Amino acid sequence: MTELSQTALLHELEPVVAKNLDRHLSMAKEWFPHEYVPWSEGRTFDGPLGGEAWSERDSTLPEVARTALIVNLLTEDNLPSYHHQIASLFGPDGAWGTWVGRWTAEEGRHGTAIRDYLTVTRAVDPVALERARMVHMTAGYSNSHDSSMLRSLAYVSFQELATRISHRNTGRITGDPVCEALLSRVAADENLHMVFYRNLLGAALEVAPDQTMRAIAEVLEDFQMPGVGIEGFARKSVTIALAGIYDLRQHRDDVVAPVLRQWDVFNVAGLGAEGEAARDRIAAHLDGLEQAASRFEEKRDARAAKLAARA
Ligand SMILES: [Fe+2]
Ligand SMILES: [Fe+2]
Repeated sequence: MTELSQTALLHELEPVVAKNLDRHLSMAKEWFPHEYVPWSEGRTFDGPLGGEAWSERDSTLPEVARTALIVNLLTEDNLPSYHHQIASLFGPDGAWGTWVGRWTAEEGRHGTAIRDYLTVTRAVDPVALERARMVHMTAGYSNSHDSSMLRSLAYVSFQELATRISHRNTGRITGDPVCEALLSRVAADENLHMVFYRNLLGAALEVAPDQTMRAIAEVLEDFQMPGVGIEGFARKSVTIALAGIYDLRQHRDDVVAPVLRQWDVFNVAGLGAEGEAARDRIAAHLDGLEQAASRFEEKRDARAAKLAARA
């Protein structure tokens, strides 16, 4: 089977992009970051304005909530890299170009809102946060899907949903209704982004089933959260998983499986040998995730029991 070129795919999917862009614009609710930030709680910091330096005592959030908020914010901060990736793939023209701009503007709002909240409430050390942002953005972000439109669409379908869940659960764990409301608002945006990309890839499955099935298999097999380049990410993501904010069980049951179900991956008809082989890899990957998620849950339970016994 001959593969469709990137240009042919762009052309084939253009009407789907136009339709889903309209859908997105009709569903997206306008919201304002400044309305989600408790400004009157703010105090001037040290430095040129001679206020008070941040201290550990300023923050009332649980440690794990702060870790998750930092990871979520740094992830949003790398927007220029993500923009570069999708703008290079999708191009500036027509509905594709409009989507790139709109999506970028919405994502930009997330970083603004979360940073304002963290700074005003003194939830995290602003100096450490800024230094982490500098390191993270200087490194930038790229993944092995940069050059392939189908792999990128598959990746963002999973990633937007993963981010939605991570924001939602982070909000819950802060114990601060203000933060929870903000992160729920952000999560609602991520959900619409997921739907957009998921619909697009669903259409690609019809246009180029074998090629798309292979892209899905490849993306799942090396899926990593977009924050993977953050300093200390491995340690932070264990903390986040132990707290139930984002773990393997959620990755499998709440992200990978429902997206695959929406695409009806296991019932797509008319696959060639290559598509069938890719679908087998997807099934094997789901099984592997199931085992890994169960192992993780057992370990987490054992750890919790040990901690409880000690206390
Ligand atoms: Fe976002
Ligand atoms: Fe998003």
